[in-house]
Amino acid sequence: MLERGKLISFEGLDGVGKTTQVRLTAEKLQKRGYPVLVTREPGGTPLSEAVRQLLLDPAFEGMSPVAEAFLYAGARAQLVREAILPALAAGKVVLCDRFVDSSIAYQGYGRGLDLQFLRFINSFVLQGLGRFLTILLDLEPGLALQRGSGKDRLEQEGLSFRQRVREGYLSLAREAPERVKLIAATGSPEEVQEKVWKHVLAFLEGNQPGGCF
Ligand SMILES: Nc1ncnc2c1ncn2[C@@H]1O[C@H](COP(=O)(O)OP(=O)(O)OP(=O)(O)O)[C@@H](O)[C@H]1O
Ligand SMILES: [Mg+2]
Repeated sequence: MLERGKLISFEGLDGVGKTTQVRLTAEKLQKRGYPVLVTREPGGTPLSEAVRQLLLDPAFEGMSPVAEAFLYAGARAQLVREAILPALAAGKVVLCDRFVDSSIAYQGYGRGLDLQFLRFINSFVLQGLGRFLTILLDLEPGLALQRGSGKDRLEQEGLSFRQRVREGYLSLAREAPERVKLIAATGSPEEVQEKVWKHVLAFLEGNQPGGCF
């Protein structure tokens, strides 16, 4: 159905509904006969999943932000080469639950690492990828956290971190409107899916070009 596949990433704060929308989008695509690969970050290959374990391990709580940025980039490099590029070459639609914008939003805007540094290392990671589409699900940080974990109170530091990450995502959407589609993630999963689907369809049918990172 597609000569060359297409990559669509899903981004946003924890609990905003990314995994739910990836699943609903994959189901709809499969019903329409598109070959689909669903993957996630960090992870999606044996090496990248091993790096994920390192990133999540509480034993490494004091990990330096630069080390963290390189580990994410390393896991991503392997995912791109081993999973995403071959799937695109095979004409698949690749749905990625978090991708490079997470590094800019979390390591850059959240932790305060230099944005040029992050863009530089990730430019090597994304070589050969070309244009893609990014669905950015946006929700006020307190609401996202409630969805995600059922918590109703936030420690102040956690909230200001999430607010910085959200601002980072919103900046990315402003800077790259062809690629990053900002969607208010309020309403039911089905209501959000309707908005997501319009962008997905326009991208797959060639009416919306997407963009490079
Ligand atoms: N539109 C929605 N309205 C209400 N609840 C939702 C909505 N979308 C998802 N949820 C629920 O909110 C929770 C978080 O959703 P989901 O796991 O899809 O978010 P996520 O962005 O993937 O989170 P994480 O970053 O933690 O992986 C789940 O319990 C899910 O069922
Ligand atoms: Mg998820």
